[in-house]
Amino acid sequence: MEAELKRLVMRSPFEVRVPKPRREGEATLLYPFDARIAWVAACHHRTSSRISWDLFSSEAVRLEPLFEELLPSLRADDRLPAASALRFSVDLGSAHDFEASPLQLRGVVKNAIVDALKPRGVTAEVDADSPDVVFVARRAGTPEHRRTVVGIDIGGGARHRRGARVTSGPAPLRETMAAQLVMLSRWDARSEPLVDPMAGGGTIPIEAAGLAVGAAIRKPGDLPFRHLAAFDGLPSEVPDLFPGTTPRILALDIDAERIGTIVGNLRAAGLTGASHEQSIVIGQKDVRTLTPDDVMKLLPAARDMKPGVFCFNPPYGVRLGAQDELAHFYPKLGDALKQKFSGWRAYIFSGDRELPKLIHLAASKRTPLYNGALECRLYEFKLVAGSMRRKKP
Ligand SMILES: C[S@@+](CC[C@H](N)C(=O)[O-])C[C@H]1O[C@@H](n2cnc3c(N)ncnc32)[C@H](O)[C@@H]1O
Repeated sequence: MEAELKRLVMRSPFEVRVPKPRREGEATLLYPFDARIAWVAACHHRTSSRISWDLFSSEAVRLEPLFEELLPSLRADDRLPAASALRFSVDLGSAHDFEASPLQLRGVVKNAIVDALKPRGVTAEVDADSPDVVFVARRAGTPEHRRTVVGIDIGGGARHRRGARVTSGPAPLRETMAAQLVMLSRWDARSEPLVDPMAGGGTIPIEAAGLAVGAAIRKPGDLPFRHLAAFDGLPSEVPDLFPGTTPRILALDIDAERIGTIVGNLRAAGLTGASHEQSIVIGQKDVRTLTPDDVMKLLPAARDMKPGVFCFNPPYGVRLGAQDELAHFYPKLGDALKQKFSGWRAYIFSGDRELPKLIHLAASKRTPLYNGALECRLYEFKLVAGSMRRKKP
């Protein structure tokens, strides 16, 4: 998340440096607020699940003390929306250690917002269907220092919803996770082709294409910026941040049905048509028989590039594929990669600890990642002579 934000802000219209964030647990980064950085993150950042502008933080774990602290704090807060009428909603993040029900917590936050805005002449009412501004309440912090935090969702809700995917395969990755895998592969879109040989609905190729050119996933007009004075004067357009880059991406799958799925999703993401024809290519192939020649035929521009990057998630038996079938498949996958793609790097995401061992390649890195509640690993295999021993990952 951190590397992606730095890269985006560097290419944004703003002369601003991204400060080092504070880490909160495994999955949260806290940055001091800067509207320009927040704007870039909200419009372009692909790997974050939610983006909140935190306004209030308290140790209160019960309703009454929370209301007593929250109301005066919001009353004095000039960051709140100033329109004469405001439609808002309150979303809850994780709040399992708050000592009241989620409904009650939401109710108290809602009441405090309405009461805080009343003296300013703002009529605030809850509209869960089309709110101008979404507030978020969550429990946060480290196990030793837990807090109740109230903020404004400036990222347009759950960010894996890109508004683009029309159909999916049987086990699609979340878009935010797919973007994380591509970032972690350190794929250089200017000099390396990227191949997803088991592309399913095409989530990884689509995210890779977006990351390569710095394409926005949210338009400023769809975010709550116009209700928040801190964002006044910031751009209303979101051109690609890396407009000169033409990535070379191959999305393959063995299943003919998935090919239609990928085409539909690429179309929905605006990644079809003449300008993308040579850039993001789809093919029906069995990864076990895939050769570098196949890659070059489908993606001719890759001939002039460095060896490429595989980035994919094979079935691992949670939702797809029987275990013994997979036990036969993984060694063949390993053979295909190591025998033919020397010099390439492979990033394989799996929720199973045993199956990747059957690839019989030495993993140069294993990055733990959570897919929902499931602890998974992203395995890095450097497909060079030295790593092709029959060694356990
Ligand atoms: C877990 S899914 C990939 C999901 C994908 N990342 C997405 O987000 O939609 C694995 C895919 O591998 C494909 N597959 C299975 N065996 C294959 C093979 N031998 N060669 C190529 N693709 C294969 C399946 O058809 C399935 O679409």
